[in-house]
Amino acid sequence: LILIMDFGGQYSQLIARRVREANVYCEIIPCNYSLDKIKEKNPSGIIFSGGPASVYSDEAPKCDKGVFDLGVPILGICYGGQLMAQVFDGKVTRAEEKEFGKTKLEILIKDGIFENIDEDILCWMSHTDFIDSLPKGFEVLAKTDSCPVAAMRDKDRNLYAVQFHPEVEHTERGREIINNFIYKVCKLSPSWDMGHFAKETIESLKEQIGDKKAICALSGGVDSSVAAVLVHKAIGSNLTCVFVDHGLLRKNEGDEVEKNFKEKFNMNLIRVNAQDRFLEKLKGVTDPETKRKIIGEEFIRVFEEEKSKLGQIDYLVQGTIYPDVIESGTDKASVIKSHHNVGGLPEDVDFKLIEPLRPLFKDEVRKVGKELGISDEIVNRQPFPGPGLAIRVLGEVTEEKLNIVREADWIFREEIKNAGLQNDIWQYFAALPNIKSVGVMGDERTYSHTIALRAVNSSDGMTSDWARVPFEVLEKVSNKIVNNVDGVNRIVYDITSKPPSTIEWE
Ligand code: XMP
Repeated sequence: LILIMDFGGQYSQLIARRVREANVYCEIIPCNYSLDKIKEKNPSGIIFSGGPASVYSDEAPKCDKGVFDLGVPILGICYGGQLMAQVFDGKVTRAEEKEFGKTKLEILIKDGIFENIDEDILCWMSHTDFIDSLPKGFEVLAKTDSCPVAAMRDKDRNLYAVQFHPEVEHTERGREIINNFIYKVCKLSPSWDMGHFAKETIESLKEQIGDKKAICALSGGVDSSVAAVLVHKAIGSNLTCVFVDHGLLRKNEGDEVEKNFKEKFNMNLIRVNAQDRFLEKLKGVTDPETKRKIIGEEFIRVFEEEKSKLGQIDYLVQGTIYPDVIESGTDKASVIKSHHNVGGLPEDVDFKLIEPLRPLFKDEVRKVGKELGISDEIVNRQPFPGPGLAIRVLGEVTEEKLNIVREADWIFREEIKNAGLQNDIWQYFAALPNIKSVGVMGDERTYSHTIALRAVNSSDGMTSDWARVPFEVLEKVSNKIVNNVDGVNRIVYDITSKPPSTIEWE
């Protein structure tokens, strides 16, 4: 076990992720966790996270100094490293300017955390304070132009500190530095994986929920599906999934979700066919935000109605993942999150929340899904917005327009698959911009809809670039849509990145 002591750093979960990637079990604990509890956990190594405070400020978070006497290796990162320096009477100084970004790191001693890293690397710095002089018993391992002690250690006690952030992608060979700490300094070997995460989570869910009942709003997307399967494995038929088919899904999607969950997982699944309700509410509505709000609200109403038919339910299962938690700070992200979490359920519901995937990143959720035997089709599914095709049909949503965009989208997705590109593009879909234009087909004048194709690459949906889909594939898609989808005579390809655009058109 590696314990990560959290001093309020923005990268604490990323550190945890790196430890999991090294196939070692880890837990994040607050920095003020008691020494007795730490001893009980019997860690093989401890990592101190960074944090926004200065070690000299009154509010500086501290830990019990007894951790340094446990004989357990410690790696302090940024603030965590400065704290270590301060505890052992080194000097931490406030720089005049914040140092932020990639910086050349000169490695002086290629041992311990730097074993096998035999060249200088670029490392990611984000700090104002820095370790100015070494504490007694420590040696300098690496320096940069502005940090005389960019890394240090007390070899006898296996105490390491780094000023930079080895956990972020921008630090070259950062993973190796963390792995060196785990394997070489803490002497752990890789023995834990997402299969263990699944098993342990199922066990603890069993204990937590006991014989009480839970409900899950299932969208068929990766996160809610994996969360549902985990809880189902823990409590079986005491879990009921409610899948609201709002009629804004892609071609065949509703049936596929229902089939998968009923047949493959033998789950209690209620499919609510609420297509008419949603279309009725959306009649005449053209403003994108109003559409979203109507859909979110109606979703809640349907969900509540179903819940009230089920009797006493104590728990609500949600597929919240870690990026949802971080992103919840921004306006844009809170929109994303509110849908993710079932359209922002009313605050007065008397459920307790269960979010088994909360510490994980998307690709880790996919790994858990695979471990649970969920099909690749679901596990590798591209993101799909809660309001569905309603925000891909610009202007008023009608059944006719939904059918057009659904068919066009299906053709685009099939052709991407046929070209073998489905795993190379983050998200790809068709939108109906509500533009009619003049065309000519078989000597006849047409006046029909335009379809916009959108394909983007992104790591988290917060920013994206348009995908360079080969012209031949676009040509095929264009021909196929115009020839097979009535009411379409023109295809355009969206070549804007986000920002300044967004991925969806509304
Ligand atoms: P935008 O359009 O904001 O989308 O660039 C970023 C990512 O989020 C998805 N998206 C949503 N997901 N509910 C969701 O669950 C929503 O209301 C929503 N709006 C956008 C979008 O598909 C893209 O992956």
